Amino acid sequence: MRHLLEIDDLAPGEFARVLELTADPDPEPVLASCGVALMFEKPSARTRNSMEMAVVALGGHPVYIQAAEVGLDERESVEDVAATLACYHRFIGARVLDHSTVERMAAVGAAPVVNLLSDRAHPMQALADLATLAQELGPLEGRKLAYVGDANNTARSLVIAAAMARMEVAVAGPPGYGFDSATVDRIRAAGCDPVLTADPAEAAAGADAVYTDVWTSMGQETEAARRLEAFEGYTVDGALMAEARPGAVFLHCLPARRGEEVAAEVIDGPQSRVWAQAANRMHAARGLLMWLVAANPAPAAASPAAPTTEDGRR
Ligand code: CP
Ligand code: NVA
Repeated sequence: MRHLLEIDDLAPGEFARVLELTADPDPEPVLASCGVALMFEKPSARTRNSMEMAVVALGGHPVYIQAAEVGLDERESVEDVAATLACYHRFIGARVLDHSTVERMAAVGAAPVVNLLSDRAHPMQALADLATLAQELGPLEGRKLAYVGDANNTARSLVIAAAMARMEVAVAGPPGYGFDSATVDRIRAAGCDPVLTADPAEAAAGADAVYTDVWTSMGQETEAARRLEAFEGYTVDGALMAEARPGAVFLHCLPARRGEEVAAEVIDGPQSRVWAQAANRMHAARGLLMWLVAANPAPAAASPAAPTTEDGRR
């Protein structure tokens, strides 16, 4: 059974195939008569809406679930919730506080699981980001991506995806907020030796794209003041964009905090492609679902028989 918990759960060829499917303007209704469960432990605008509309575009039926409603690990274990949802749904998408929750759901083996953002990874965002970069830059091999700011869930998936696309990558952030060594190993395993620096201008120098994300992610709110102080000097502003290649694009997964990680002149300026990214979330979601359908053929008998009466009639 194939899941998407981290972007490098896809082999490079599979990743390229998902991007091809993302560009398919006229997909078959491969989710006809299928449900897709979309469970959220955190808020969402883009992920929920793009996934719901992607499921509808493929003929399926999305069901939005607030995790508090099913009571994950309180009313019922994560494993029993996953097994239950698999009785009705072809796939389970989940946005979780702790990455281990999507791993536990996947370990049940009852339905393919898609990570809709965890504290560790945001693979659906990375698919849309690479689709956007390809639209903007054409072939990505050898092009330079600069990521400035917190080496968080979004950054991790983005940089691994960029490595899989054979891009050059530079990451700038203050000491203590960079990638752990396991992530750096994973980026290298994906084919890229990233430049890791504390200097945002060094990272942005000659870049084809500059990317940032919030300094305080969902679930880190108690650290907000400390992070605001730590990331001082890492705002992507016009002066930093001037270090990049002329015509370089600016990307941000959104939601953004203008005046913190990005200046309004950049995110609302001519180099910004944040709305193309947001739109690509839906196309990428559709492409990923199409790939998952092909990678996980439906079982012949999806569910146990309905109860029968004593004489065997239904
Ligand atoms: N970029 C992104 O995942 O946005 P949401 O948190 O609104 O889903
Ligand atoms: N890093 C951010 C991404 C939001 C889409 C967060 O986890 O809150």
